[in-house]
Amino acid sequence: MGEFEFSFVSFLVLAFFLSFNIVLLVHGKPLPIVTDYGESSSQIQTYIVHVLKPEGSNFLGTEDLENWHKSFLPNTTLDTGEPRLLYSYKEAISGFAARLTPEEVRAMEKMDGFLRANPSQRLELQTTYTHKLLNLSTIFGAWSTTNSFFGEGIIIGVLDSGIHFPHPSFADEGMPPRPKGWNASCYFQRPSCNDKVIGAQSFKGGNKPIPPTDIDQGHGTHVAGIAAGNFVDNAEVLGQALGKAAGMAPKAFISVYKICWKGKGCGVSDIIAGIDKAIQDGVHILQMSFGGNWPNSFEEDEVAIATYSAMQKGIFPCTCASNEGPDPETLGHYAPWDMVVGATTTDRRIRATVTLGNGMQFHGETAYQPNNTITNKFLPLVYPGSNGQNEQNNCLNNSLNGINVRGKIVMCYIGGKAESDEQVDIVRNAGGAGVIFANPNRIGFTTYSAPHHLPASHVSHKDAIKIQLYFATNDTPTAKITFGGTVFGARPSPALAYFSSRGPPMNNGNIVKPDVTAPGVNILSAWPVEVGPFPSGLKTKTFNFLSGTSMATPHVSGIVALIMSKLKYENKRKWSTTEIQSALITTANIFDLDGEPIFDEASLKSSANIVQRGAGQVNAIKAMDPGLVYNIEQDDYVAYLCGIYSNNSQKVQIFTKDNTQCTRSISGEQLNYPSIGVPMGSSSSRITVRRTVTNVGDAKELYNAKIKEPQNVKIDLSQYSLSFTRFEQQITYDMTFTLNGAHPGSGVIGQGELSWVSDKHTVTSPIYIAF
Ligand SMILES: *[C@@H]1O[C@H](CO)[C@@H](O)[C@H](O)[C@H]1NC(C)=O
Ligand SMILES: *[C@@H]1O[C@H](CO)[C@@H](O)[C@H](O)[C@H]1NC(C)=O
Ligand SMILES: *[C@@H]1O[C@H](CO)[C@@H](O)[C@H](O)[C@H]1NC(C)=O
Ligand SMILES: *[C@@H]1O[C@H](CO)[C@@H](O)[C@H](O)[C@H]1NC(C)=O
Ligand SMILES: *[C@@H]1O[C@H](CO)[C@@H](O)[C@H](O)[C@H]1NC(C)=O
Ligand SMILES: *[C@@H]1O[C@H](CO)[C@@H](O)[C@H](O)[C@H]1NC(C)=O
Repeated sequence: MGEFEFSFVSFLVLAFFLSFNIVLLVHGKPLPIVTDYGESSSQIQTYIVHVLKPEGSNFLGTEDLENWHKSFLPNTTLDTGEPRLLYSYKEAISGFAARLTPEEVRAMEKMDGFLRANPSQRLELQTTYTHKLLNLSTIFGAWSTTNSFFGEGIIIGVLDSGIHFPHPSFADEGMPPRPKGWNASCYFQRPSCNDKVIGAQSFKGGNKPIPPTDIDQGHGTHVAGIAAGNFVDNAEVLGQALGKAAGMAPKAFISVYKICWKGKGCGVSDIIAGIDKAIQDGVHILQMSFGGNWPNSFEEDEVAIATYSAMQKGIFPCTCASNEGPDPETLGHYAPWDMVVGATTTDRRIRATVTLGNGMQFHGETAYQPNNTITNKFLPLVYPGSNGQNEQNNCLNNSLNGINVRGKIVMCYIGGKAESDEQVDIVRNAGGAGVIFANPNRIGFTTYSAPHHLPASHVSHKDAIKIQLYFATNDTPTAKITFGGTVFGARPSPALAYFSSRGPPMNNGNIVKPDVTAPGVNILSAWPVEVGPFPSGLKTKTFNFLSGTSMATPHVSGIVALIMSKLKYENKRKWSTTEIQSALITTANIFDLDGEPIFDEASLKSSANIVQRGAGQVNAIKAMDPGLVYNIEQDDYVAYLCGIYSNNSQKVQIFTKDNTQCTRSISGEQLNYPSIGVPMGSSSSRITVRRTVTNVGDAKELYNAKIKEPQNVKIDLSQYSLSFTRFEQQITYDMTFTLNGAHPGSGVIGQGELSWVSDKHTVTSPIYIAF
């Protein structure tokens, strides 16, 4: 471990004790002891149990509900004396979380009202890599200067690892008073909880409240800063890039639900408890950057069951695609009512240029930018992996023994067992002078601006191959690394990050997921602790780079707050969550800044397709004024679930929490979703899909259809223009898909578009054909 890590860890320890003292002062009692829950015996597990309330029953009090839930349990305590019941849920699901053995669950299955029990899983926060900020500051948030009231009056519930209260991004300067009737609890009093952070609670195995601070993880702080960080003036770092920092919705309120714990991920029973409380508190948006453990069906997707309840109450669920890309079918969320966000790059790079002895240059990245007068000289280049050994290819520990790297620039592939931080340490310990981090084919073009302790440059796979070739064909290969600081204008941009999880979504009836993409590579936002090798030189307002679909998701949550506050302050009707999804999806952009289709960074030359990037890059300004919106009635969601579950009412009741019986079913493509996914197995050559749009633009507006047909498919519309004469008017049209020529083969992905175009608006539904 280098000195830098050592001081970083010391700082964490110090910060922990500071916080501990604050707890002592405020509450007069020590921190509760945190026990590992649910794993005290290999047999006993935490289960989420869904139960159906008996008809006519009315649970008025919390106590009645809890007693009824306890009546399903064999007894109230385990042999160890620990309570079995962890959570008795009120809103998110009808049911509870309890510690049970599989036999006890089987016994429970026979009880009246039992619907289903799922073992509680662990999800992970979706950050790929932590970049500690060094000597640079760049501000994002240009979007927040739109005519959107900055998200004022909207409450974003951030379900994450907590928040670092003292960060200036969470100061309440310029904030309006808290909403009337808001009564969520705040673990801390002022100044920690203030008129910016208006709720702060934690959920851990049903334990007594634990401080929802974030000094040990930082993820929740970073995410909250992206969604709703307040303006921070003069957000310079060591004199560079002076400017104003802000989140997407700088005047939105934040209510924190800490459900992710260091080293333990985010337990589903805790997540449901957080969602349950957020619904009761009355948040408007659920910001959820966890996922990864992709569910096999909705009934196993406890998050989707809980967000169904949120959606019914008009609360917007915003989730991440997850970071399991670039493989297909890796989405962590895919329910139609969950907004699912993938990650793209920005056009900013923290440049580190590799120059080879033959003059060839490659622009890579690193956040550590030492003085060029020191590094601007050619050194011998060595590629330990040239012998074909994996360990040496990845510069793993002890693999460099016997290879002379002293004073040389060492090329190491990433994506092996070692993190790039460790690789740098290994190279430095072996006497290396610099590192070229090379992407394997799978990682393609995605590079990180990480702060290394040696001169380094992270280069794309394409560049890595050229450097490798130069090394192999030169007797005395040399290289140098020089630093260009923060540069804008990188191309192609935005491009889909290799790690962004991709569809096609399985088991959701071909509803297109992910929905949209947003920036998620090397994103700068608030950070709890000072970073860098010279922390004392930094101010208290610390920022940091993180990458992941975790970072993309809060961009969309913030934009949703802007849409909500605009409707509110213009005295417009409150939109349903589907109508807001519609606004985001139909205005997204599949083209990059140069007008080319969004590029897939995992691939050497192809653009991303519809099940990889959804409708494309979210466009905040256009989403504020979409012209037309698609809505889904609650009845249609029920009919959709009846279709998914072949009319098995009991499975649908897990979602509806009442004794709904399936009387109607629709298939996925008939759901009035803003994007259109149509199955065209070899037998089905003709499918008609119905859609209804609502006019939220000008009272009188004429739209004409513009169609991009998918390969091998002909599209016919029941009408080719939509003529609106009043605000909120609805028009229904039919769209018929006919196989045109030969079936291209099972598993082929077809993509097209239907746009309704007026003088003012373009409303685009992406089309996905599942051949
Ligand atoms: C609770 O029930 C379990 C299994 O039914 C039994 O082994 C245990 O002794 C009971 N504990 C108490 C405190 O009654
Ligand atoms: C606010 O919440 C507290 C408990 O957190 C409760 O005792 C109180 O009755 C609530 N007040 C209102 C107005 O709902
Ligand atoms: C960062 O900037 C400070 C002040 O300009 C300088 O002393 C320090 O060496 C720089 N650090 C790096 C890693 O370049
Ligand atoms: C880099 O080093 C040179 C020579 O030592 C010095 O003149 C220059 O000021 C340094 N630049 C920075 C940015 O520190
Ligand atoms: C490499 O392995 C040695 C033991 O062989 C250990 O002492 C050292 O900490 C390791 N270095 C890294 C960077 O993991
Ligand atoms: C569900 O039941 C309805 C009404 O009985 C029927 O029309 C429909 O085909 C059934 N759907 C499925 C998927 O079985």
